[in-house]
Amino acid sequence: MLSDKSRPVIQATLPVVGAHIKDIAQCFYRQLFTTHPELLDGTFNRGNQADGTQQLALAGSVAAFATALVNTPDHLPENLLARIAQKHASLGIQPEQYQIVHDNLMSAIAEVLGDAVTPDIAAAWDEVYWLMAYTLIHVERGLYSARGVRPQTIWRQWEVEKKIQETDDVVTFVVKRIDDHLVKPSLPGQYITVQVHLPNGTRQPRQYSLSRADQ
Ligand code: HEM
Repeated sequence: MLSDKSRPVIQATLPVVGAHIKDIAQCFYRQLFTTHPELLDGTFNRGNQADGTQQLALAGSVAAFATALVNTPDHLPENLLARIAQKHASLGIQPEQYQIVHDNLMSAIAEVLGDAVTPDIAAAWDEVYWLMAYTLIHVERGLYSARGVRPQTIWRQWEVEKKIQETDDVVTFVVKRIDDHLVKPSLPGQYITVQVHLPNGTRQPRQYSLSRADQ
């Protein structure tokens, strides 16, 4: 849980962080993709990046997590975390990548808020970030191991067997496996991530709902 030292600091700085969250989010992604352009190849969805509201999700959720820690210190916002962890596991996010996001997020906060970020304020937000990150890493490890995969081995090649135009804007793709690994039965509400190769050689992830999965 958040330390007694950090709680009042977070409480006092939440309004200013909240008021600048859009600028922090934009600065964060600009820095992240400059320092780690490989994250635009198969990890982040370029279409979602063009939409400013989706950019707010990551930084906004850290602020939402901080608000929950301050208001209900004994209770983690599990719904928020579970949804994020599912999304991360669907993209093969790895524990080591949390350091990269940390460095770019903290640097964006420092750049946007400037001298207002004293060492005590930086340390308190660092604590919030790692509380959230370690919880997500733990939940994601459970999701990977339940499916018998590692972040590096979530991707498989499939062959499209049939394309069925269900309505004007709904298409079903029937795919078949071309390797020896079994397919686990689908769960209600499950979605899968499809990576397609773009003409410029990079991969683009998109998520689709699954209507059926057979062994
Ligand atoms: C404490 C750290 C992190 C937080 C709070 C966080 C938060 C979020 C949130 C709220 C979403 C949106 C979930 C949804 O749409 O339902 C998201 C999506 C995503 N996150 Fe994270 N995240 C963190 C760390 C990471 C790391 C380390 C990576 C890897 C580089 C990462 C990559 C992604 C990607 C690729 C998406 C999907 C975005 C898209 O639509 O393209 N996140 N994250």
